[in-house]
Amino acid sequence: MPKYLLPDIDNLNKLAVYRQNGGYEQAKKALQMSPADIINIVKTSNLKGRGGAGFPTGVKWSFMPQDYTGPKYLCVNGDESEPGSFKDRQILEFNPHQLIEGTIVAAKAMGVTTSYIYIRGEYHKWVNCMQTALDEAYDAGLLGDKMKQTFGTDFKTEIYVHKGAGAYVCGEETAQMNSIEGKRAYPRNKPPFPAGAGLWGHPTTVNNAETIATVPAIFRLGAEEFAKIGTPTQCGNMLFGVSGNINKPGVYELPTGTLMTHLLYDICGGIPNNKKLKAVIPGGASMVPLRADEIENLPMDSDSLRKIGSGIGTGGIIVIDEDANLAKICLRISHFFHHESCGQCTPCREGNGWMEKILKRIVAGDATSQDIDLLYDVASNIENRTVCALGDACAWPIKGFINKFRDEFEKCVKPTRSFVAPNTIHSKHLTQNELVYAV
Ligand SMILES: Cc1cc2nc3c(=O)[nH]c(=O)nc-3n(C[C@H](O)[C@H](O)[C@H](O)COP(=O)(O)O)c2cc1C
Ligand code: SF4
Repeated sequence: MPKYLLPDIDNLNKLAVYRQNGGYEQAKKALQMSPADIINIVKTSNLKGRGGAGFPTGVKWSFMPQDYTGPKYLCVNGDESEPGSFKDRQILEFNPHQLIEGTIVAAKAMGVTTSYIYIRGEYHKWVNCMQTALDEAYDAGLLGDKMKQTFGTDFKTEIYVHKGAGAYVCGEETAQMNSIEGKRAYPRNKPPFPAGAGLWGHPTTVNNAETIATVPAIFRLGAEEFAKIGTPTQCGNMLFGVSGNINKPGVYELPTGTLMTHLLYDICGGIPNNKKLKAVIPGGASMVPLRADEIENLPMDSDSLRKIGSGIGTGGIIVIDEDANLAKICLRISHFFHHESCGQCTPCREGNGWMEKILKRIVAGDATSQDIDLLYDVASNIENRTVCALGDACAWPIKGFINKFRDEFEKCVKPTRSFVAPNTIHSKHLTQNELVYAV
């Protein structure tokens, strides 16, 4: 299948090579078009955001007020801190000019004056790759004041790399805006939504790096042709990052709707030592896991995964073989979310700590069956009760693993011991059954 995000072209990160391969021609085309026409092309292409929620990109762009006279902003989200997700950094390293070109097209469509390519603080290498590409683009007059001369247009826009301080929550769009403003990265309550009041109170759009890098390909192929790739409801190629117990881990660019079994067994060479598959987390650690039998004939697209109660998320697939200890995996996931909670909402701040503690007990063999119920209950009480979706992200995998693999957790816990407690509760006479407590 043709690849347009990570094509096999040597040195594509260099401006000269990118231009030899038709680079910046789509930006030139778009800069001659009206914002409404650009947005219509993106709507027709049926591109859905690749940052996790799968929101239609053209529709999101249309929320930006066209007649606003003040500054407007675009955050290109390359924070990519979701465990199991490592695809955006491939774009930053191997095809950064396509990301810049997509940012120019998006800026023209929404009248954006300044864009920030937001990259997680620890990703020094990718910050440097992106900055090098931006410097080249500025030197060549593709950005900033010289754009008018280069492209023969009145439109000019600026792009900066913004390095985060290294926190998962900075990937959440409103936390990211606070971070760019130099504040602590607390997610904001919505409404107001970013298109109404974003960076410094001005209209702002936040898009994932892969989403924006896909835009030049839509213009190159034509929106109708692009819409024929992959599934009708989530068109185009996607970058799937495959990790865990797999022979050939890596990032694979494939059309949406590719069968998961084809990806894991034919492309990635299956599971090491021919072990059996136990589970797969399909879209980054925050998605509901799937049992091995659930991936049979499963197309990798948002609708198909939603139908079976999970999500395509960021396309980061974590493969888990038959020997893995799921309680330990849950503990690792829970430790991550506990550490990354910004602490603003009580259910997330406290609940994540409780979940981690219970899972530690389960892994150490110090828990009882009731702890599994308690864990499930705590997760359920975080979900849907928080300012940002990190609260759902931490609950879904844990609940999913318990729902689908309860027996694995039961194996880790102590057999329930019982004793008859004294009948002192509210002076009510309790039966023998009511008096059985697990300790
Ligand atoms: C805790 C949390 C972390 C997130 N991290 C990222 C991230 O690293 N990259 C990203 O693109 N979106 C991330 N998102 C989603 C963004 O809030 C936003 O929906 C996305 O950048 C929109 O881009 P899209 O419309 O192109 O998909 C995160 C969301 C949450 C709740
Ligand atoms: S859900 Fe967690 S990370 Fe999100 S705002 Fe609340 S405390 Fe912070």
